[in-house]
Amino acid sequence: MADLWRVVSRFKFNFIVLSSVLLFVNVIVPIAAYKVDDNPYRHWETLDENGKYELEWIVDWEESRVLFNVTVQTRGYVGFGLSIEGKMSGSDIVIGGVRPNGEPYFTDRHAIGNQLPVLDDSQDWTLHQAWENNTHTFLSFSRPFETCDEDHDLPITEDRLTIIWAFGENDNETEFHYQNRGASDAYLLDPVLTPRVVEKSYRDKNPKALGDLKVWTISRTYLIPPKPTTYMCTLHRAPSHSTRQHIVGFNSVLETDVERKHIHHFLLHRCSPPAGQDAASVFQRHVETRGEECYLLNQPAGRIPTQYCREVVHVWAVGGKAVFFPDHVGLPLADPQHEYYLLQMHYDNPDLVPGIEVKWALEIFYANARKFDAGVMTIGGQTPNSPALMVPPSSLNHFIYGHCGSGRAIRLIHIRDNEELPWIIAENNYNFNYQQNRVLRNEIQILPGDTMITRCAYETTDRNGSVTVGGFSTRNEMCNGFLWYYNRIPEHGICRSSIRSDLYRSFLDIWNTTWSDPRIEMVVTSPRQNAGLVVSEVGNRIDWTIERRNQIQKYHRFLPQITECPRLVDDGTSTQQPPPLRRYSPRGRIRVPTNNIAISSVENEILDPEYEYVSEYPKDIVPYELPESCRKRK
Ligand SMILES: *[C@@H]1O[C@H](CO)[C@@H](O)[C@H](O)[C@H]1NC(C)=O
Ligand SMILES: *[C@@H]1O[C@H](CO)[C@@H](O)[C@H](O)[C@H]1NC(C)=O
Ligand SMILES: *[C@@H]1O[C@H](CO)[C@@H](O)[C@H](O)[C@H]1NC(C)=O
Ligand SMILES: *[C@@H]1O[C@H](CO)[C@@H](O)[C@H](O)[C@H]1NC(C)=O
Ligand SMILES: *[C@@H]1O[C@H](CO)[C@@H](O)[C@H](O)[C@H]1NC(C)=O
Repeated sequence: MADLWRVVSRFKFNFIVLSSVLLFVNVIVPIAAYKVDDNPYRHWETLDENGKYELEWIVDWEESRVLFNVTVQTRGYVGFGLSIEGKMSGSDIVIGGVRPNGEPYFTDRHAIGNQLPVLDDSQDWTLHQAWENNTHTFLSFSRPFETCDEDHDLPITEDRLTIIWAFGENDNETEFHYQNRGASDAYLLDPVLTPRVVEKSYRDKNPKALGDLKVWTISRTYLIPPKPTTYMCTLHRAPSHSTRQHIVGFNSVLETDVERKHIHHFLLHRCSPPAGQDAASVFQRHVETRGEECYLLNQPAGRIPTQYCREVVHVWAVGGKAVFFPDHVGLPLADPQHEYYLLQMHYDNPDLVPGIEVKWALEIFYANARKFDAGVMTIGGQTPNSPALMVPPSSLNHFIYGHCGSGRAIRLIHIRDNEELPWIIAENNYNFNYQQNRVLRNEIQILPGDTMITRCAYETTDRNGSVTVGGFSTRNEMCNGFLWYYNRIPEHGICRSSIRSDLYRSFLDIWNTTWSDPRIEMVVTSPRQNAGLVVSEVGNRIDWTIERRNQIQKYHRFLPQITECPRLVDDGTSTQQPPPLRRYSPRGRIRVPTNNIAISSVENEILDPEYEYVSEYPKDIVPYELPESCRKRK
């Protein structure tokens, strides 16, 4: 892997700042023209649908404290808490309010079930201010990130936490709150760079607040077929512009629960025509059509040439909020006239319900060019071409590693000179329904020679007897991260690895595989006794004893991996013949005729042996450990 960055440095690569699993990096930046808030650590959210419970929180990094202000439409008690699972039990809760005589009350508690939370012996939350008027109660309170009340308070970390809330009709806390309660996920400590103008109602009232920001909206209405997984590709043409522009933010508009339930994720790719051809002649006729299914192997002629749309520029997954870049970087809108983008949408319909119509829109915000061009790097393991992502059943903490470059927990490991640096990003409370693009608090430099490894932890103790495999359905797994970084490395956007060792193939008894359109999975072609089965079926034939589970974990960690960094764009500057489009099988590469490909724009890669490297997990490395934040806590 070390080699990747050496290669990359040939492209006048300075350093990468990252973002993305989506993680992003950032520093506090000067106020952009459109920005309404100069403190990226000030968050504002309405927690309920009726606008009765408003929360503001501000992170004070100097004091390592978070200040919470809540304004709630009640004269009764207000409950606020932090939880890992979103349940009452095990959560850290405060209850406060103002009595009819004007006297404030406020207590630090913990829940042991769905009943009045119990008072903590150690009161670690501080009330700063409390008042009520005829209709509302306001409380301002704060807490250190770490209280060291290890039994009854949850530490506030960079991991996801669930905010739980409730309010009563009067000040008697023992009276139940009935339906006046809820939960929502948050990264309390992350910066937010999303300006208010993202809210359409705000923008409509304050058009001047847009500044130099322009909005390009792409949208579709789609009738989801009664199939568990459908991938649809649509092609879109970027607005033309006369001065250099950068894409600076994305906001997906999924208005109802129907959209939120059936749209699992999407990827936006930039298209580049093959060398010597004009973009409009290649792409224009596919614009404004209904779109078509992607991931089909035997693609009829005349379909969207997805093989020319490989550069990922945006990723959205379930629960994702709007995301904006720091104001010194942007994704270039390169061609002023004819730039095309492919949107690949994953619709999920596990119950095969007919007649579900969804309406979605993606708002792409662009502005006058910023200082640096950003790019996106997809990192992790290959999905699904390699059976390398196979997690045996009944495993508590099975790790999958993707070199270069997200499960239960996700960590992006950063190695330099055989030393593990602080994780670029880590998530120990991963929630499938809350996948955010994250902005890093401090910019990170990736130097030539550095290695990045994604590590996903899987728990399959509830999967009695069946393996979990890599694939495109929501029931399969992927372990990929998307990193927004600068400076953009032209033509490159993928850096992933796979295990192609004979040892591994004989362990699984899977030698060659091919893609199956109807099954949306890899089907085994050899050896003969397993031919025709999908990879998961072969995995299920294995008797997963403790020894075999340990063995495959060792393979996943220590077998050499082949890292690939394919060229994404055929720009005609190559002195060699353009390499043929190929797809990997576990055995090595197989050739697939150009007009016959399409395992997605991401999987169709122009593979150039020059960009393949063997990498191994360093055996003698000292793992990075988080600094001890609290002596009492282990
Ligand atoms: C009471 O406080 C709320 C929240 O600050 C405010 O919106 C409302 O106008 C106030 N009501 C009165 C009568 O001042
Ligand atoms: C939050 O409450 C504190 C008082 O404790 C106040 O200084 C701060 O301005 C409040 N923030 C807002 C937006 O009301
Ligand atoms: C509070 O509510 C509980 C349960 O409804 C009741 O038993 C109790 O008397 C109430 N306390 C006061 C001070 O009203
Ligand atoms: C696992 O499956 C076996 C056989 O189907 C069943 O008897 C057993 O109760 C299952 N165990 C769990 C934990 O679900
Ligand atoms: C796998 O496929 C390749 C060609 O696609 C073939 O050369 C090789 O023999 C196959 N391996 C086995 C074990 O059948």
